[in-house]
Amino acid sequence: MTWQDENSRQIERLIDEAAAGRRKAYAPYSGYLVGAALLAEDGTVYTGCNIENAAFSPTICAERTAIAKAVSEGVREFEAICIIGGKAEEEIPSSYAAPCGSCRQVMREFCRPDRFHVILARDKDHYSVYTLDQLLPEGFGPDNLA
Ligand code: THU
Repeated sequence: MTWQDENSRQIERLIDEAAAGRRKAYAPYSGYLVGAALLAEDGTVYTGCNIENAAFSPTICAERTAIAKAVSEGVREFEAICIIGGKAEEEIPSSYAAPCGSCRQVMREFCRPDRFHVILARDKDHYSVYTLDQLLPEGFGPDNLA
């Protein structure tokens, strides 16, 4: 049994939560709305959305918003994250939004690369599951400085 076979109910829940997070996105400059749903080991789900800024560089991605919410509540153990992103006019995005390099690196800080799962979704019928290892091979992490 693969992780996705064993966790299909959780995946559906995360897809619902990521879609809800996406509805909160603040993206007046790119018009590209992203939602994320981060599943903590204790079962709590933290949602996030991208939050853009007129000065552009302070923009934060949906994934990092969700991770910042969890870590600032004292939660650092995570099992999976689901990401849904697409143009504002698309209720269901036509393609997957893969996490940017900075978000992959922030995931690497808190998540075991071989055990943390990243779900790229359009809707409940269209998603693809990766491990962080697949998206960030040979990454630099806290263990390098231990
Ligand atoms: N964005 C995310 O929120 N997550 C990603 O994985 C890719 C990009 C946001 C940043 C910016 O607000 C918009 O999408 C376009 O890059």
